[in-house]
Amino acid sequence: MQTPLHEQLEKVATLNELKQLCEHYLDSEVTTGEKLVFGEGSLQAEMMIIGEAPGVQEAKTGRPFVGNAGKLLNTLLSQIGLKREQIYISNILKTHPPGNRKPYRSEIKKELPFLLRQIELLQPKLLVLLGATALQTLVNPKAKITELRGNWIEVKNLPTLVTYHPAAALRDETRKTALEHDFSKLQQRLAAGI
Ligand code: URA
Repeated sequence: MQTPLHEQLEKVATLNELKQLCEHYLDSEVTTGEKLVFGEGSLQAEMMIIGEAPGVQEAKTGRPFVGNAGKLLNTLLSQIGLKREQIYISNILKTHPPGNRKPYRSEIKKELPFLLRQIELLQPKLLVLLGATALQTLVNPKAKITELRGNWIEVKNLPTLVTYHPAAALRDETRKTALEHDFSKLQQRLAAGI
C-alpha cells in the first residue's frame, strides 16, 4: 500500500527533498512542455512571499515571478533595499492553470500541502500574501483583499502582511501606490528586527 501523502510530507526534512516529492506527486498536473514552479530563494530567508500561481513565463522557466508581475515585485523589493536572493518566493499553486485562469478549489486542495510544508521547513520570520487567492486560501475563503490589505495578521503563527498582487497593480495605478505603501511597512518591520 502506498504511504499517504501527509506521512510522506512529514518524513521530508529539507526543501530539496520536498521539491522532489512535489515533482513526483504533481507530475500528472503539469502540462506537457511546462515546468513545475516549486519556489525559490534563500534558505535563510526571514521573509517568504506567497503569490497565486505560476503564469506562462514561470511555467516556461520553472521560476516564480519572472514575468511582468515579477518585474514589478523586483522593483518593490529593491525600493526597500532587498534583493530576490535574500528572500523566498512561492505560490499557492505549483502548476500553471491553463489560460491563466484562477486556480480551482480542487487544484488548491491537492497542491496546498506542499506550500504548508514549505513554510514549516523554511521557518521564515514573516509572510507576505500577494492578492486574494493567497489571502483566501491561507486565512478565510470569505476574506476580502480590499479590506485587509495593508494589515498585519497572523498566519501559521507568523506575522503576515496582506497586500495586493503586483499583477493587479499593473492594471490599476492606485493599487501600485498601495503596494508601495505596504512594502514600506515591511521595511519598517524588518528594520525593527521583526
Ligand atoms: N503570479 C503569481 O501569482 N505567481 C507567479 O509566480 C507569477 C505571477
